[in-house]
Order: sequence, then C-alpha cells, then structure tokens
Amino acid sequence: MSSLSIRRPDDWHLHLRDGAMLEGVIGDTSRHFARAIIMPNLVPPVVTTDDARAYRERILKAVPQGDRFEPLMTLYLTEHTNPDDVEEGKRSGLITAVKLYPAGATTNSHGGVRDMEKAMPVLERMAKVGLPLCVHGEVTTPEVDIFDREKVFIDTVLEPLRKRLPELKVTMEHVTTEDGIQYIRSADRNLAGSITTHHLIINRNDILVGGIQPHYYCLPVAKRENHRQALRKAAVSGDARFFLGTDSAPHVDPLKECACGCAGIYTSINTMSCLAHVFEQEDALDKLEAFTSLNGPAWYGLPANEERITLVKRDEPVEFPTKISTGAGPVTVFDPKFPLLWDVT
Ligand code: DOR
Ligand code: ZN
Repeated sequence: MSSLSIRRPDDWHLHLRDGAMLEGVIGDTSRHFARAIIMPNLVPPVVTTDDARAYRERILKAVPQGDRFEPLMTLYLTEHTNPDDVEEGKRSGLITAVKLYPAGATTNSHGGVRDMEKAMPVLERMAKVGLPLCVHGEVTTPEVDIFDREKVFIDTVLEPLRKRLPELKVTMEHVTTEDGIQYIRSADRNLAGSITTHHLIINRNDILVGGIQPHYYCLPVAKRENHRQALRKAAVSGDARFFLGTDSAPHVDPLKECACGCAGIYTSINTMSCLAHVFEQEDALDKLEAFTSLNGPAWYGLPANEERITLVKRDEPVEFPTKISTGAGPVTVFDPKFPLLWDVT
C-alpha cells in the first residue's frame, strides 16, 4: 500500500509549554492533529479551572492562522485541589481530565501528590462526576530502581486506588512496560493506556550505548527490548484500550545537553511519519487509524474527527529538520534512526 486515508488524529498526551516555546511548537501539532490533551506541568502548574481557562486562551492565540485545533485541558492534581472547582471545570466542559504526578516523578512535578490519602476527596468527586484521571504511573521512592517504577506503581498505588474507586476512569499514560500492558489488558473496565511514538521505537540501549544520548532520555525511561515489543503488539492490536499519546515534550538543547539533562523527547513534527513506518513494519497499517484517531475519542467520550488526512509513501525519504528553532532556543527533533518515507499530505 502506498497511500492511506485515515480520520484526522488526536494526541492524547502533549506538552506545549507556554510563551515563546508554545509559539514555536504548536504548529507542529496543529498541522496534523485536531485535538490534544494538554499537560498542566507549567511553572507554576495549571491547578485551577481559572488557570486552565487562561492557558487555553494562550494556546488558541498561538495556533497558526488557518489551522483548526482544540486543546483539551487538564488540571494538575495537588494535595490541596478543591473538589468543587474540579467538578465545576468538568460541568463547564473546560476540563477533560485531571493529571496525577507523583511528587518528584518528572519535570515540574514537585507540587504533585506525596500522600494519595490527601487527594482522595478530589478523586472521589471525579469518580462521581465521570472525570478521568490521567496518571504518570511511576513511584518515586528512592529505593525503587528506575526501571521498576512503573510496575511498583501499578502494584502499590494504582491497583489499590482502582479497588477503592472502581468507578474512577483511569488513563495510564505513556505505558512503557509489558507489566503495564498486561495490567491494562486484565481490566474489564475504566482503565486504558496511552503509548508514545518514541517508546515504540527506542529501547534503553538507545539512551546508553555508545555514550549518553540525552535526546533519547525521557520519563518514564525507555525499558528493555521485550517491553518495546509488548508496546508494539498492543498499539497495533486494534484493542480499543490503547491509543496514541505522544508525550512530545520540548526542552531547549542547552537543558538537554548538560550534566543534569531534562527528560523529554520532541516528536510532534514527525510522529505520524514514524507511526506509519512502525505500523507498516508490523504489517498493521490497517490498525493505524484505530490507534491514532478512533480509540482515544471513544475512551474520552468524544466523537472521532470527521476530517481525514492522507499518508503517502514516497520513494525518497521525507526530510524533517534535525532541530526546530523557537523563541526560547533550539529544540532537537526525535531521530527514529530509520528513513521516513511516509508523508502526511
Ligand atoms: O519525558 C518526560 N518529559 N516525561 C514527563 O513525564 C514530563 C515531560 C516534560 O514535561 O518534560
Ligand atoms: Zn508527559
């Protein structure tokens, strides 16, 4: 097959940042994606419905003329989040989900949740009003090995939470392990998972072999090859519980290429080309639309997009820039290490 028409995709996990960075990156998403769930880990974070409303306005202002793009807003869960404000955000249609960052898990997560007990009133209200919880599923206990953080989170945080609040809809974001995939598969309701583009392509060797490769470092960190294979199987399976959340997370190069580099990989610009390549490798191009355009909206109770995009396989690789320049500085683009032949027209 050399051409493929699918419904316009959505990105169910995206970092757009703010100010000059927002202006520099938004076009790479709005060019191909109709909607995206916007992560709230700004400095300071998006914690109230008013914060989210103001941030949404800034995003809409930055969308390039001619593009139609709908930001789906999230709130950053803290131990002081007000359940009434969250409910109001849901009822007004402004808030699509609430995001749980265990404190210290990743970029700008220090204001996240340390003691789950303190977040219970909000979580109970969310279960009651049908507002999904998006989780960064890693424990931050120093004793737990970074490669085991996802599994330990499932066993010690997620499973007890879901037992206690079976009505709470939970999205396990950026699943990176076979354990995560199995856990999602084992649940009959109210649990789904997003998978990033880069975790379908890299494993931990890409970060560590031949010198430290900061542009392949993200959180949750890429795992062993068997985990990447499990993610691929889930993504191409057509199983409605798995969908795309790119976790495209721009940082300027000086903050990646230093002694303590930030976590995050920038994939917005070439995600659809990378995914078409992966799905073709897996002989599953017919499942790409479910992953990028159908399963996510169904999970969040939204209609799939009516518009379509066409992917065309070229004879020569499509050239993407190795870096984009933003008003905040240069951002390195994810290099999948294979030629990208699929182009979005
Ligand atoms: O790699 C990551 N970057 N993982 C996250 O969870 C956060 C993100 C960011 O905001 O940079
Ligand atoms: Zn993220």
